[in-house]
Order: sequence, then structure tokens, then C-alpha cells
Amino acid sequence: MEESKLRELLNSLSIEEKIGQLIQLSGEFFSAKDISVGPQKKLGITKDAVELCGSVLNVVGAKETHRIQDAYLKGKKHPIPLIFMSDIVYGFRTIYPIPLGLGATWNPDLIQKAYRNTAEEAYASGNQVTFAPMVDLARDARWGRSLESTGEDPYLNSRFAASMVKGLQEDLPKYGLVSCVKHFAAYGAVESGREYNATDMSENRLRQYYLPSYKAAVDAGAKMVMSSFNTLNGVPVTGNKWLLKDILRKEWNFDGVIISDYAAIAELVAHGFAKDNQEASKLALEATVDIDMKSPCYANELKPLVTEGKLDESKIDNAVWRVLKLKNDLGLFEDPYRGSSEELEKKLIMTPEKRELAKKVSTEAMVLLKNENNMLPLDKNKKVALIGPYENEHELLGLWAVHGDRKATVTIEDGFKKYLNSDNLFTSKGTDILRNKSIFRSMGLNSEQIDHVVSSKEIEEKNNEDAIETARKADIIVFAAGEHTIESGEAGSRGNLTLPDNQLELLDKLSKLNKPIILICISGRPLILTDVEPKVSAIIEAWFPGTEGGNALADIIFGKSNPSGRLSMSFPYAVGQLPIYYSQFSTGRSVKTSTHSSRFMSKYIDIPNDPLYSFGYGLSYSKVKYSNLRLSSKELEMTDNLIASIDVTNMSDRNTTEVVQMYIQDKFASVVQPVKSLKGFERVTLNPNETKTVNFEINKKMLSFYGLDNKLTVEPGEFNIFIGPNSDVEDFATFNLK
Ligand code: NOJ
Repeated sequence: MEESKLRELLNSLSIEEKIGQLIQLSGEFFSAKDISVGPQKKLGITKDAVELCGSVLNVVGAKETHRIQDAYLKGKKHPIPLIFMSDIVYGFRTIYPIPLGLGATWNPDLIQKAYRNTAEEAYASGNQVTFAPMVDLARDARWGRSLESTGEDPYLNSRFAASMVKGLQEDLPKYGLVSCVKHFAAYGAVESGREYNATDMSENRLRQYYLPSYKAAVDAGAKMVMSSFNTLNGVPVTGNKWLLKDILRKEWNFDGVIISDYAAIAELVAHGFAKDNQEASKLALEATVDIDMKSPCYANELKPLVTEGKLDESKIDNAVWRVLKLKNDLGLFEDPYRGSSEELEKKLIMTPEKRELAKKVSTEAMVLLKNENNMLPLDKNKKVALIGPYENEHELLGLWAVHGDRKATVTIEDGFKKYLNSDNLFTSKGTDILRNKSIFRSMGLNSEQIDHVVSSKEIEEKNNEDAIETARKADIIVFAAGEHTIESGEAGSRGNLTLPDNQLELLDKLSKLNKPIILICISGRPLILTDVEPKVSAIIEAWFPGTEGGNALADIIFGKSNPSGRLSMSFPYAVGQLPIYYSQFSTGRSVKTSTHSSRFMSKYIDIPNDPLYSFGYGLSYSKVKYSNLRLSSKELEMTDNLIASIDVTNMSDRNTTEVVQMYIQDKFASVVQPVKSLKGFERVTLNPNETKTVNFEINKKMLSFYGLDNKLTVEPGEFNIFIGPNSDVEDFATFNLK
């Protein structure tokens, strides 16, 4: 529709119709035959508000979305189509590894393709918007939503944020999905890693480390932003004018739609920020939150605010305009189904090509953390016992794959069977995922929803014994262990980050057999593997690996693929280190450089400072040598660029992909800078014994930081450049910026 017509439409709407566009309700409001009855009462909004609501949350499927759209449009004075928005976070039906695994690929181009495929599946199925990517910086593994993040580094996260947005939106307006980047802002820094908690940090820290990934998503064209649940320095984000208006809209020129997180407007009252829902609605709307996701606030309060003269109606008009514009840009007025159909679903969803890409992503996401005596890859002629609760488990998708097809998941056993015949493969679960039922009960789940839990001591003992007997028959034990799906993701914060007790006990028993053990770790976060590590010969961090997880794992374990995943979030040594990240400040008394006597340094007295596995770390089956680090010049003019180069040599007889990482340290600055910050990386594929030179162009932008005035600045002086295989790299070259 032409923009002038859209304006006319806006001007012809009643205040109720306008407010309707600013309300989002979930599927339950639409699945009843008569949409006016039932659950809306729980929310406490009127039948009219439900009927006028402009967008739907988490309903998918061409048939269902068409049914709802048809019923909705029927008899409407102004038939403005509904817009369907869903959580399609890392795959729609074909599920990729969790984003922490996507981060470990260090391959934003590949992930762009994955998100494009995801958008295509979801578009066919009647969705127009996804609440993705989630780009929160995650440095505290206690936070369950680390699962949804690409990790701890602003630069790496920004690269992924941009690629995900581009992938989702690249076929717009006709195909693909609108990307709603979330959770703006700094949600990853919730205190103590506890979900929905407060964040508090200086503006300087916010700008330098926490905002860049959202900015990258907005710069890549994300058409929507979700405001986060947390307070930031005492002000809840959903009512935070400074963040939403001054930074997001004015500084960053964002003119798309802002949606609140689920019920976050009403929660402004619970935060102690607004005295009631009416004040909450005013604060949120004035902060330019356009859509109220699943709270009664806008539905009940906006009209009284206007009629009582407390809110200028033009503010509502502005919000409605942004929503109408989004619908119009997507062509919904011309085709409210936007081309989706059941035929298209059959054609586009879970095609062999899409599954193949998912397998590739899953393979690249896996991180080989340990490989003592080159235990891996396994020889197909060896006898293998595949033990553990994830041995033949379909639940490999992780908590936020809400629309994923679990039945279509390739299990680890399925994957192994492609390499081993029944004479060489023995399997036994040995135990369930968890023993502790109280986690489920505290989440309000009933006994039917409690699965993968040890049902009795007797059964547990029998399962353990069976596993031991099975393991005895084999040369090598592969232990497929991990967290339960409900232990990570939203509201999955944990205080203990080890594998479940029952799995640890089984591992202890298995280790007494004195056979090599390979640990496959399924998890939604970095777990603490400190006590497990000495008991096993090899560790593969597989995350929740997605639909093709079993195939990807088998290809790695049997050597068809050479692992190339590198951690994008540190694996702590102990919970007491959290939050932990490589780009720390040196402090006045760094253990690495201090000349003070041993006690009076910045350290713990009972655990090391360093994580068990650092950011950027990951092994392959090849040894790669880094040599000859050099700079094109030791002096750099502000207006110039400089080239840093290194030679990388594959010392093995198999092809390998090395993630060459470049870090910079600004040695002295008016606001102190981290000991190292990632500024570039390159995935380099090397043939056996091949050497390649990798060059990085160093420019002024890479050397900038937020100064005391919270503006980007560059200061002359000395910089160190580190190039190597992970953030522990020690070799550096120095140049002087004039
Ligand atoms: C709450 C979550 O925080 C957010 O990530 C999600 O998009 C919404 N619920 C909608 O399901």
C-alpha cells in the first residue's frame, strides 16, 4: 500500500483500534473456537481488546496461522492483518546447535546461511517475525541464557549479530523473516547470573562491551528490537528513556518497532518503578515501547491515559505507525498469509539440503577440549561401548528450540551405527539424565512432565550394572553425558555447574575399569569439568547439537571431520571465578606481572585465576605451528593502516581448519583497557604440511575505546598485537601509534 494510503488508514482508526495494534497475545487466545472466551480473563483484558489485538506470539504452521488470520479479518471494519511473531532462535524445524555452539564455529558466513534457511522454513509456515538473534554478552555461566548467546566477546558477538540479522532478513520483503534483536540491553550482565535480576554498570562499560552487538544488529538492518527484563543502573529497561530513546532511536537512528519482553511492562510495577499498570503503560510508551507483549497494560490503560489528558495521543499514533509500516513493508495488506501455505511447508521444511547444512554447522560447533595421546579419532575396528543418558537420546535440541521436530533428531547412537557394526558397538544408558526431581517440581512441572529422571534406587543400580557389563566388552568407552534440557535456557540459572551427581557416580565406576574414556558433553552452557577432566582421555563439547547432532558427532569421533570449533565463552575452573572472561583488566597487582610478594596479588587463595579452558581454545587432530609474527611497520600514523602477519603451518598429514585469532592490547590509556581484546580472526584451511600467511589489517577503529566522556576516542601510544590459536597466546609484536 502506498504510504499516503497507510496514513489515511491510521487516521481513520478509532483509539481502540489503534491500541489493538500495540497489543500482542499468545496462541491460547486464538485457538478457542470463540476467541472472545477463556484465557483473556486471566490477563484481565476485555473481549474487544482481544479481538483488536494486532499480533500473535508463538503460533506457527500455515494451517493454524491462516485459520486465525481468516477468523480475525472477518467482519472487521478496518481489516488490518495480524502479524505472527515467534521465538525462532536457532532454527525452526531444522534445529542448529544452540547459539553458544554457533559462536564456537567462528564462522559468521556459515551462520548467515543457517539463519537464511531458518527464515525460509518459518516464512513458509506463516511467521513474519522472529525474536532473534539474542545478542546479549554472556560472561557468567550460571546464567541459563548463556545458551542463547554467542558468548563473552563484544567483537565476536557483533560479527554473529550482523550475520544472523542478514540471514534472517536477506530475502525480505517477499520471503524471510523480520529480525527482532534482543534483549536490549545488557541483559547478560544480570547480577549473580540469576535470571530476571538487575544489572548495574558504568556507562563506559555498557558502551564498550555490552552495546556493540545490539548496535551491530541494528546497523545490519534489524527491523525490531526487544527491550529486556532487567533494570539497568536502577531503571528498568522497558521504561528507560535514556536507553530506548536517546541511545537506540536518536544515536543509532533506529526507527523500527520496539516490543517489550513478555509481561515486562506490567513488571515495571513489580520492579518498584511504576506505582500501577497505568503509570507503567505511560512510562513504557513514552520510552517508545511500541508493542506490549502479553500484559494487560496497554489494552487497559492507554485509553484512560489519553482521555484523562495524561498521555498525548500522538505518542500512540507514532507507535501504531511503526507497527502498520512494518505490516505494510511485509506486504500483509496485499496478502495476509504472505505466501505461506502447507504445500510450501512441505517443499521448504527439513529438506535434505537444510539438514546437510545443519550437520555442517553442528560439526563446526563442536569443540575438542582434550585429546590425550591422540585418543581420537577412533579406529572403526575397535570395540566401542557407548554409555550414558545421551547415548540414544532425541532431546538434543536445547530449551529454546520450541518449534523443533524432536522426532527427526539424529541420536548419537544413530550416528555411531553409520561407522560401527553390531559386533563393535555396545550400548547402555547406565543412568538417566538427572536424579533430582525437585528441580522439576520447583518449576511447577507435574509427574508427566518429569522425564529422564532416575525413578528408583533399584533401577539406578541395575542400569549402572548393565553399563559396567557393557563397558567390559569394549576397548574404549564413549560416555555421552550432560545437562538436562530444563537446566539451561530461560529461567535455567544454576548455582552448581557440574554434571549431575548420578552421571558423575557412573563415570567414577566406569573409570575403575581402566579403559580409555571419551566424554561427549551435552550442555547449554560451559560446565565445570575440573574434576572430570583427569578421569577421561578426551572431551568433546557438543552443546545441544541440534537435529543433525548425532551425525556430526560421529563424523568427528571417527575422523571424517577434523574438529575446528573454538570456545566463545570460557569454561570456568570453579563457580567462584564467575563472571570470568579473557579480556580482563590487568589490575594494580596482576599475578602475571606484579612484583609484590605472593600473597598480596589479585588472585584467589584456593583456586587459580585462569579458567579450565579459555576463550578461543579448541583442539583439532592436527598440530598447527604459528611462526614469524611481523608488522609492516613499527610506527602507525592515525590516518594509515598497518599489516600484521603470521605464518601458520599444518604439521599433520590431514586437512585442517585453523581459527587464527588476532588480539590487541592498548598498553596505556586514559581509561584502562583489557589485557587483550579480540579484533580479528580468520578461518584458514590448510592441506597436510601446508604453510599459509595470514594478514590482518590494523586500522584506527580497532584501536579506539570509550573515553572518560563516553565517546569513542583513539589515543597515541604503544599497542601490542597477539596472533595465535586462542586467547592464551603470548607472542606479540609492538607498534607505536603516532
Ligand atoms: C521471554 C523471553 O525473555 C524472550 O526471549 C522471548 O522472546 C519471549 N519470552 C517470548 O517468548
